[in-house]
Amino acid sequence: MSNGRVEIVICLGSSCFARGNKNIVQEIKKFLEENNLMHKVTFRGKHCFGKCENGPSLTIGEKKFELVTLGSIREVLENELL
Ligand code: FES
Repeated sequence: MSNGRVEIVICLGSSCFARGNKNIVQEIKKFLEENNLMHKVTFRGKHCFGKCENGPSLTIGEKKFELVTLGSIREVLENELL
């Protein structure tokens, strides 16, 4: 949390990138725009979380999510943000 906002941090390390985090970044941005959440969420990237074998990785608030896919990211965001 920062400034009362929920913080989403996505790993932008090369392993997660190779596993498709770039597409997940786009999907998260789309979701935040569609649901008018841009003002409630801080979305940023960070380098390697140190668990590349479980990537793509991201955190939402205090929770960690691993092996995130384009197929699962929307459900994760709906559960955590809506
Ligand atoms: S590159 Fe994402 S955890 Fe290492």
